[in-house]
Amino acid sequence: MTNASQEVMQPAVQSVQSFDAWMAAVQATMEQALSSFLPDAAQAPQELHQAMRYAALDGGKRVRPLLAFAAGELFAAAPQQLQRAAAAVEMIHAYSLVHDDMPCMDDDALRRGKPTVHVKFGQASALLAGDALQAQAFLVLTDGAGDADCKLAMVRLLAQASGSLGMCGGQAIDLASVGLHLSRQQLEQMHRLKTGALLRAAVLLGALSGKLLTPTEEQALDRYAAGVGLAFQVVDDILDATADSATLGKTAGKDAADNKPTYVSILGLDASKALAEQLRQDAHAAILSFGDKAQRLRELADLIVQRKA
Ligand code: IPE
Ligand code: IPE
Ligand code: MG
Ligand code: MG
Ligand code: MG
Repeated sequence: MTNASQEVMQPAVQSVQSFDAWMAAVQATMEQALSSFLPDAAQAPQELHQAMRYAALDGGKRVRPLLAFAAGELFAAAPQQLQRAAAAVEMIHAYSLVHDDMPCMDDDALRRGKPTVHVKFGQASALLAGDALQAQAFLVLTDGAGDADCKLAMVRLLAQASGSLGMCGGQAIDLASVGLHLSRQQLEQMHRLKTGALLRAAVLLGALSGKLLTPTEEQALDRYAAGVGLAFQVVDDILDATADSATLGKTAGKDAADNKPTYVSILGLDASKALAEQLRQDAHAAILSFGDKAQRLRELADLIVQRKA
């Protein structure tokens, strides 16, 4: 049996009541699930597997898995399938961070309060760890039980969100924009791709772990994800300019130092904060029709906009 096909037995996190307790339960479940879905560190090639585990485990807010779980709970998704969907999107995210930090991109030495993967393991291992995390994400998604049509939809969704019309495309625009003044529309497009696309995938993958969506359900979740997806990167830009490295676990002030166009550099701090708040409200409005069942999604929109790290 491969690591990717092992299932993690966990109590149903849905039964936990407070948001903080629910969040802690999902984060703990995901730590264990990710660990079981990654090759063992002792398995050859050890350094590659160690670098993959270093990148994906023991750190991060796990916002994408939280979104997947919250959306999955709307449709009573089975926990085992949710764990796979959430782990897949988190592996893509972890890979994107490993590559984002490399000298050819943002050249960062600190991530999640630890030395970045290329600092710890060298550039070649970091490159390969990112590549292998991406492949592992799709393996995890396709393994395990579940409806084949749902799985196909999920694979396509995650591939689109990760590729040249999703996260990679956004990263390409980001790198090509250093030192340029982008219009507000160009900036929004860059942020929607580099960050919004994976957050949208997290929401829809979680929902698809429950069932194939009706067009109305998909539209509502899409509108919600558009709000939180853009808000997430607007807040990331705000925190880069206002928080310190110890709080963030990554180098603060890096965007201005690197001459990157951000919401803060283009709109200013106050207008960026107002926009994030507006997007939070848009996200809430989008899921009104789901009623009480969407409480976790509402709480996550609040967290994404009000977070301090
Ligand atoms: C950082 O993402 C990179 C962006 C897309 C802005 P997160 O802020 O979710 O990073 P972790 O996973 O919590 O470390
Ligand atoms: C990165 O955006 C988005 C990714 C796809 C990884 P940033 O470059 O702003 O992320 P941080 O600030 O380094 O986490
Ligand atoms: Mg970057
Ligand atoms: Mg960066
Ligand atoms: Mg940033």
